[in-house]
Amino acid sequence: MRVVIEPEAELYRLAARRVAAEIRARPACVLGLATGRTMIPLYDELARLHRAEGLSFAAVTAFDLDEYVGVDPDEPGSFRHFVRERLQRRTDLRPEALHAPDGLARDPAAAARAYEAELGAAGGVDLQLLGLGVNAHIGFNEPGSSLASRTRVKTLSDETLVANREGLPAAVRERRLAITMGLGTILDARTCLCLATGPAKAGAVAATVEGPVTASAPGSVLQLHPDAIVYVEEAAAAGLVRRRYYLDAEARERQLERSLR
Ligand code: GLP
Repeated sequence: MRVVIEPEAELYRLAARRVAAEIRARPACVLGLATGRTMIPLYDELARLHRAEGLSFAAVTAFDLDEYVGVDPDEPGSFRHFVRERLQRRTDLRPEALHAPDGLARDPAAAARAYEAELGAAGGVDLQLLGLGVNAHIGFNEPGSSLASRTRVKTLSDETLVANREGLPAAVRERRLAITMGLGTILDARTCLCLATGPAKAGAVAATVEGPVTASAPGSVLQLHPDAIVYVEEAAAAGLVRRRYYLDAEARERQLERSLR
């Protein structure tokens, strides 16, 4: 697990550079896209790279990580709407290349299985973006989620309901069910980038990076991933016991990378 600790602006610049490097190396890559406030500056930066540097999403396929059950994809507050407005419409990502779980399906469990199959047929995710809930959830894999879970219906916890309430339209605010990629699905991505900012995430970051691997802190499953990078803004890194080590290791490893260029 690579832990990158930086002030916010630099953190987003680096994370966007990593996404851009993936797209440039494999223009037809499959991106796994997350939602939430944490993702907003990242998508802003990717949209800027598209405008300023010609970063092209034209051959990219994208799969949203999760979606509320019972929410219209065109409704503000749906995750599909978020990704469409924040990223797809601001780049050349083709609307038909953007996949999302069908939150309006009559049988959401069947829709979840179909989504997992669709993802498999596309060859799986090359680069998965992840935010972190205050309870260390990733996607909507709430504490207690099976570490081997696949895409399925999950019930949102009270903590998540409270944390996500702000800014959501009333119709979405009280939604308790979602379809989310599972922890096993996320672990199958070739690379995972997890971002966390702000002091409210300090506990979740510590549990994810330094806690035991446990379903009680779903983000900790990333410790089992062979290529996971956790981008942590300084305030969110406050609970990390090995903070100084990560800073030192990152400086040395970046120097090594530069020397090899
Ligand atoms: C939701 C999403 C998660 C996201 C989390 C954090 O619960 N399902 O994927 O990581 O929100 O949101 P924020 O970035 O707004 O703190």
